[in-house]
Amino acid sequence: MKKHVWRPLFVVIALVVGILLFRAFYVPADFGIQERGYTFGYHRLGNEQEWKNFPEKYKGSAYCADCHEENSASLVKSGHGVIPCEDCHGAAFNHPESPEKLTIDRSRDLCMRCHVQLTMPSSQRNDLPGIDPQEHNVGMECADCHNPHNPSLEDM
Ligand code: HEC
Ligand code: HEC
Ligand code: HEC
Ligand code: HEC
Repeated sequence: MKKHVWRPLFVVIALVVGILLFRAFYVPADFGIQERGYTFGYHRLGNEQEWKNFPEKYKGSAYCADCHEENSASLVKSGHGVIPCEDCHGAAFNHPESPEKLTIDRSRDLCMRCHVQLTMPSSQRNDLPGIDPQEHNVGMECADCHNPHNPSLEDM
């Protein structure tokens, strides 16, 4: 073969060898085809443990019931039973260790997220009981009158 054919071929070979060398140093030893085969098992084994150690943010409402029995019992029976506690109080992380307390947001904004009267045809958003925040007891906090854990108007 002529020189002009060999030269680019050497370049290609050098490139391939370079890539394989880089891969050998760079890719962790536990990366590869694991027990579930190539399709589902192609990952780094150590990564599984890393995800197991990843701190969870949200605990779910069942977790709160152990310690805040009254609020939990009251909430599930109410129209607000569909709302997770952490939707209003923020993510629990390692509460009650850290943070020791979760946020209590008494602002009108918290409630208006769901209760501003809207007209959205063909949306279930209309089914939520709505108020006009410019008319409905302006200047007061909603929780002054409504119990967020049992908002039923009959129990007011
Ligand atoms: C292991 C028991 C425990 C669990 C589980 C728990 N809490 Fe608490 N919570 C506490 C303690 C203790 C305090 C601090 C004491 C206090 O002020 O009532 C507290 C405080 C709070 C406060 C502030 C109360 C205040 O008056 O300032 C809120 C809000 C709260 N928790 C919500 C939640 C929610 C929501 C969950 C579920 C995601 C939850 N907690 C899970 C024990 C717990
Ligand atoms: C719709 C929003 C909302 C949801 C859902 C909600 N909370 Fe609350 N929570 C509030 C508000 C607002 C206050 C402040 C009430 C006040 O100051 O009168 C509060 C107060 C509290 C307090 C402190 C004082 C008290 O009333 O005992 C605790 C503890 C608490 N919530 C726990 C919970 C737990 C546990 C759940 C789930 C079972 C839950 N909350 C669900 C809005 C909510
Ligand atoms: C994530 C959405 C959401 C948030 C936030 C929310 N609510 Fe509600 N609210 C609902 C749902 C859902 C119902 C039940 C509607 C039903 O029974 O058809 C409801 C029902 C009510 C009712 C009863 C109305 C009736 O006609 O019986 C009142 C009052 C109320 N909420 C007040 C509040 C207050 C006060 C806050 C703030 C502390 C708040 N809500 C936050 C979704 C929400
Ligand atoms: C001064 C007390 C008071 C305050 C503050 C207050 N409300 Fe009300 N709310 C009432 C009363 C009383 C009713 C029932 C009669 C009526 O519809 O006006 C009511 C009714 C409602 C209803 C049911 C409407 C319907 O048509 O079924 C919703 C939803 C509601 N309030 C949400 C809120 C929200 C959200 C806030 C804060 C932005 C708030 N309220 C502040 C006293 C109050």
